[in-house]
Amino acid sequence: MIFELQEEHLAVQEAARDFAQKELKPGVIERDRDMLYPKEQVRKMAELGFLGMMVSPEYGGGGMDSLSYVLAMEEISKVDNSCSVIMSVNNSLVCWGIETFGTEEQKAKYLPKLAAGEWIGSFCLSEPEAGSDATSQRTTAVDKGDHYLLNGTKNWITNGGTSQVHLVIAQTNPDLGHKGINAFIVETGWEGVSIGAKEDKLGIRSSDTHTIMYTDVKVPKENRIGEDGFGFKFAMKTLSGGRIGIAAQALGIAGGAYELALAYSKEREAFGKPISRHQAIAFKLADMATEIEAAKLMVYRSAWLKDQKMDYSTASAMAKLFASEVAMRHTVEAVQIHGGYGFVKEYHVERLMRDAKITQIYEGTSEVQRIVISRNILKGQLYLPIWKNSLESIG
Ligand code: CAA
Repeated sequence: MIFELQEEHLAVQEAARDFAQKELKPGVIERDRDMLYPKEQVRKMAELGFLGMMVSPEYGGGGMDSLSYVLAMEEISKVDNSCSVIMSVNNSLVCWGIETFGTEEQKAKYLPKLAAGEWIGSFCLSEPEAGSDATSQRTTAVDKGDHYLLNGTKNWITNGGTSQVHLVIAQTNPDLGHKGINAFIVETGWEGVSIGAKEDKLGIRSSDTHTIMYTDVKVPKENRIGEDGFGFKFAMKTLSGGRIGIAAQALGIAGGAYELALAYSKEREAFGKPISRHQAIAFKLADMATEIEAAKLMVYRSAWLKDQKMDYSTASAMAKLFASEVAMRHTVEAVQIHGGYGFVKEYHVERLMRDAKITQIYEGTSEVQRIVISRNILKGQLYLPIWKNSLESIG
């Protein structure tokens, strides 16, 4: 077992760190306060290749592995989580979904624009009554021969106001349950697609989250992804990978808050010495560092499993569950270490605390991750593939 990043990974990590500190940090407080979409910052992310990192060079992407993507997500999430969620949805849900399951025509038509950031993608699964219970889709797509007629409403859609491409999950045959669900590539310019108002959120406030309405939208047959009835499995498989991205976001949030708390605790003095020298604060820092390190191993390992083409659905659910809970717990502690300064916007930690909350909710709540993990272990997948040999040899 080698716990070492390769040269190419270190280069991506440094480039993302540099970009986040120099280009994202200035103005992040104001963008969050005023809910301003980070248009210029997204343009720069596109220029640097952060929006299509894993897309094959054949379609204009960076051709990088999941670990590189995770490292970039982590660094960007230390600073600006509106930017990192835009990046995450575009990379690991939309581009990956189309490249892995799309037809050659779909890939050729959509990937070059999405990878270049010329177009941005949204993943449209959630509905008012189909959040965690994702099989209960009310949005319908009726087969009309050469096209489907799409009707319904999707909620809390990331990139909803700015995306040009939607991956829409809809019911095509209610009698078949999840086997009657399909996924479609829908363009926002098509007649019948309308965008609701931007949500005013607790965190990731400058990312644009909207309700989307589809009214008699004609979706050409060739825009269905996969075989008839593949839509629910498409969503589940795509979300298994997406969860690695959100786990990396949570890891970055926790790491960013820890770095700020550590630096502050060395500068701030109380009772004649830096507060880091008081056990009450030093032990908080020790707990933060320990749990962040554990989350890092889980997140990097789930990316590694994906890169090795091994089963990663349990690993990614575990990584997201743990990293998001670490992010929530330790951003609260980072605010506590900052005392009164932690409660004001200028010091960044309160924003990271607000951003942490969504990582326990989107791309599957913590409760959904526990459903996925418990079902998998009860099916007999007791250990992750990486541990299999050593456990067998012990047994
Ligand atoms: N890969 C392949 N197939 C899978 C799968 C996976 N990871 N997970 C489930 N399936 C298959 C099952 O094998 C089953 O197929 P068969 O009947 O052929 O065996 C089928 O899918 C149905 O599975 P379940 O019986 O497990 O379905 P369920 O109704 O019990 O639901 C659930 C399971 C895990 C709770 C699922 O509904 C779920 O993940 N819900 C959360 C949805 C979610 O993550 N939403 C996030 C919205 S997107 C977002 O947030 C993006 C953003 O903008 C940031």
